Amino acid sequence: MTTIAVLGSGSVGQTLADGFLKHGHDVVRGTRDPAKLAGWKAATGARAQVATFADAAARGDVVVLAVKGTGAEEAVRLAGAGLDGKTVLDTTNPIAEKPPVNGVLSFFTGPDESLMERLQKQAPAARFVKCFSSVGNSLMVDPQLGGVKPSMFICGDHSGAKEQARAILDELGWEAEDCGGAAAARAIEPLCILWCIPGFLRNDWRHAFKVLR
Ligand SMILES: NC(=O)c1ccc[n+]([C@@H]2O[C@H](COP(=O)([O-])OP(=O)(O)OC[C@H]3O[C@@H](n4cnc5c(N)ncnc54)[C@H](OP(=O)(O)O)[C@@H]3O)[C@@H](O)[C@H]2O)c1
Repeated sequence: MTTIAVLGSGSVGQTLADGFLKHGHDVVRGTRDPAKLAGWKAATGARAQVATFADAAARGDVVVLAVKGTGAEEAVRLAGAGLDGKTVLDTTNPIAEKPPVNGVLSFFTGPDESLMERLQKQAPAARFVKCFSSVGNSLMVDPQLGGVKPSMFICGDHSGAKEQARAILDELGWEAEDCGGAAAARAIEPLCILWCIPGFLRNDWRHAFKVLR
């Protein structure tokens, strides 16, 4: 059993924190304002803790980064040395602060970069793995998709961290699709734009990617 630090008080943080508890892990959630998660902690019990980003990161064996893309660099700065040497599952997407156009979101990153590469450069001792960025939160834990195990695209520069990500994904009902080093986040992050289009156009949010061979 591991303690998983989930940095994020939004819907992804909530879903993954509850999912990890369901699968037998301890969870410490990080937020700039721990008071706002007091209700969650009270409802969840002794295996659930709430802390600052720094304290949560320091207490986790594995860290999940589930913060707004525009705040990700600040959240990593606040988490600080607690990330060093740890697998950091990076769910974030670099979504710009503007509405979608014909269902197509805008990113604040360009095509030859990615948010995860920025974060990896900012915190070189952390072991970032892009993960859970290409599906909506309601399908992240034990997805029920007609008996098919969906694919989760992952990437990162540290092979041991990707193995840890693969094991966690397997536990939560996903097949990891390893796309290589951190630069592959340039391809994985935009899958969020593609995944959201049916949602914005037709209010259809229940789908996931699957690689067929
Ligand atoms: N929603 C989905 O279904 C989904 C699916 C896949 C990937 N994602 C990605 O997952 C991430 C989390 O999404 P979400 O919908 O759960 O929540 P969100 O509203 O995008 O993010 C909320 C979190 O971001 C933190 N945050 C916001 N601005 C910050 C700043 N300037 N500095 C530090 N932290 C900041 C908040 O911290 P406090 O707790 O301190 O307020 C909070 O924990 C996003 O990057 C999103 O693109 C979302």
